[in-house]
Amino acid sequence: MPEPLTHRMANDLAELECREIELAEGVTGFVIRIDNQFYAYRNRCPHLGIELNWMPNQFLDADKCFIQCSTHGALFTPDDGHCIAGPCAGDQLTPWQVQQENDSLLITATI
Ligand code: FES
Repeated sequence: MPEPLTHRMANDLAELECREIELAEGVTGFVIRIDNQFYAYRNRCPHLGIELNWMPNQFLDADKCFIQCSTHGALFTPDDGHCIAGPCAGDQLTPWQVQQENDSLLITATI
């Protein structure tokens, strides 16, 4: 059974702000704050297995409604990572667990 990877960070994200994190070398993800909830996903598009963003910490579409892959424009719902449009429609981002502890967030993933 692989050991879970963890990452701790301050919970100082503004509403709709995204922040990239690295749980281990080559294992990158991001955290997003929506309606005072925090969600984390691996930074890997289910279409081609490449990173989603084209700018640091930029993961949302122009309207800030969906997570958008920069390569072919797939759209993902921010609260569960489901792809609702694009070449991987019906697929899903890999969610990571987020626990709020006082002023910090603990992100956990089993790779
Ligand atoms: S690589 Fe993300 S939609 Fe094609």
